[in-house]
Amino acid sequence: MVTAAQGTGAASDPARMFPENFFWGSATASYQIEGAITKDGRAPSIWDTFASTAGRVRNGDTGEIATDHYHRWREDVALMAELGLGAYRFSLAWPRIQPAGRGPGHQKGLDFYRRLVDELLDKGIRPVATLYQWDLPQALEDAGGWPDRDTVQRFADYAALVADALGDRVKTWITLNEPWCSAFLGYGSGVHAPGRAEPVAALRAAHHLNLAHGLAVQALRDRIPAAQCSVSLNFRQVRPLTGSDADADAARRIDALANRIFTGPMLKGAYPKDLLEDTAALTDWSFVRDGDLWRIHQPLDFLGVNYYTPTVVSEAADGGTHTLDGHGRSSHSPWPGADRVAFHQPPGDTTAMGWAIDPTGLYDLLRRLASDFPELPLVITENGAAFDDYADPFGRINDPERIAYLRGHLAAVHQAIDDGVEVRGYFVWSLLDNFEWAHGYSKRFGIVYVEYPTGTRIPKASARWYAEVARSGVLPD
Ligand code: NOJ
Repeated sequence: MVTAAQGTGAASDPARMFPENFFWGSATASYQIEGAITKDGRAPSIWDTFASTAGRVRNGDTGEIATDHYHRWREDVALMAELGLGAYRFSLAWPRIQPAGRGPGHQKGLDFYRRLVDELLDKGIRPVATLYQWDLPQALEDAGGWPDRDTVQRFADYAALVADALGDRVKTWITLNEPWCSAFLGYGSGVHAPGRAEPVAALRAAHHLNLAHGLAVQALRDRIPAAQCSVSLNFRQVRPLTGSDADADAARRIDALANRIFTGPMLKGAYPKDLLEDTAALTDWSFVRDGDLWRIHQPLDFLGVNYYTPTVVSEAADGGTHTLDGHGRSSHSPWPGADRVAFHQPPGDTTAMGWAIDPTGLYDLLRRLASDFPELPLVITENGAAFDDYADPFGRINDPERIAYLRGHLAAVHQAIDDGVEVRGYFVWSLLDNFEWAHGYSKRFGIVYVEYPTGTRIPKASARWYAEVARSGVLPD
């Protein structure tokens, strides 16, 4: 078999043509691009608090200005239109819409997203709205955050309010983005906001995020008859380092804590038995109450897949758990209950994040998801790469590494489609360079360069390349 990384054929080769209705988009998230953190009544989120705490974010960067999208949204939509992108995945800032995390919708916050969506629709770009990409209102963290069950009801109320306000315009919805990061980087290793390192709280957070997802899907469907609902999960394509039983078991445990902790309840209506056993020394999971599992287990219209790099693990000979996840350094593990696991750098080139470039991981993941959940179409809701881009003396940004990364991963998607996997669309992460969480502005993921601090946008060579792929639906060599 030709591997996904190799791909096949030439530009004119119909073998490299994507299905006609395949959609091409770009993605962003509110805290990473908007700025204007005190404007029009927005209240602080956990990321404002975290970023303004010394030592949490590289260079002391914050989202205060970010890419200034709050003021430049019209220009950004025009850029997407110029690039011919048919869909845009963005997230809503909960603290703009409910500054205290509860109560009626804040008009100015809702109006911002109404204007944005209207502009997208006007330009023929399909809006795909993510309800939560990590900017929890600080007031809710003060009340306990995701480990506290009340946050679930707050999220359900927020989802209902947003559905009422935007449901006439937005039909495609993502409840949560990468809840693994919210639970295990936010409350496990503490390298993300709110920066807590409490293993049991991380597991409670994961369950409450699952339940919040289920209630949000119900709220969206109740109010928007044509709603297409999903969630974006950062699946780990976990590979054991060797063929040993011990390494296979390390891979199984990480797969449970990374993937099946979400797909189990969301798509099968139960937590995996091995996950409950692996974590039994930490918790009896009594925070899962009667009725929670069917509420979480809502039918979805597609599954959102975020993929960047594969994960290689082995049993750790010295008994500790060693992480190597590129999200930031912490002495605390984001893997509660998974002792004796070592993470290994896969061979080959890496991106500026230090993440191995390996499109076969995406191909394998898509095949696995199609086999585990054959009824569910897939959408790549994030894929992309950070590189150390710079403007040349003529103001151009040449980013051949990003083009190669995208080409390789799109070849993997194409191969998976050829092999029978239903993949409906692809969103490149990201439209713009932006605030890369604990890495601040030091990592550039955009296909459009942002000059800080002026906010000037310059499409990189990869933007032109991607625009041509989107226009033609054909992947060139
Ligand atoms: C994961 C997140 O969804 C997004 O916010 C982040 O910037 C990218 N992937 C890259 O790390």
